[in-house]
Amino acid sequence: MAIERTFSILKPDATRRNLTGKINAVFEDAGLRIVAQKRIQMSRAQAEAFYGVHRERGFFNDLVSFMISGPVVVQVLEGENAVARHREVMGATNPANAAEGTVRKMFAESIEANSVHGSDSPENAAIEIAYFFAGTEIVG
Ligand code: CMP
Repeated sequence: MAIERTFSILKPDATRRNLTGKINAVFEDAGLRIVAQKRIQMSRAQAEAFYGVHRERGFFNDLVSFMISGPVVVQVLEGENAVARHREVMGATNPANAAEGTVRKMFAESIEANSVHGSDSPENAAIEIAYFFAGTEIVG
């Protein structure tokens, strides 16, 4: 299996409830290594561009408002099959459908305030990582 990198966000509902350590413990226990990390306040323009693919969806404005409602932690996770592994331990987008033991089952409040974001493919991981991190900020 290939060593990959994926992009991860701990969302405002997670930072607000002081859950960043608990959530990252799940990722680390799953074999993912944090190789870059920073806590930021996203601007509206930044959030709109990041979620640009969802611009036509009915939930877009609410999603952007939520993502700028408090600080987030953006990070790069590295490990074997990191994209799929990260998605597996995050659980389904809607916490109502998330499996036992997943981050969203344990911590998410709703489909919007669902605690974490993770890239859906290696191609998008590369794009999302480059959106927030310079190569020199990633230390494997
Ligand atoms: P995320 O992985 O960050 O990507 C897009 C986000 O939109 C998703 O997680 C959800 O938190 C959010 N979202 C809000 N409403 C919906 C919805 N009805 N369907 C899918 N995603 C939604």
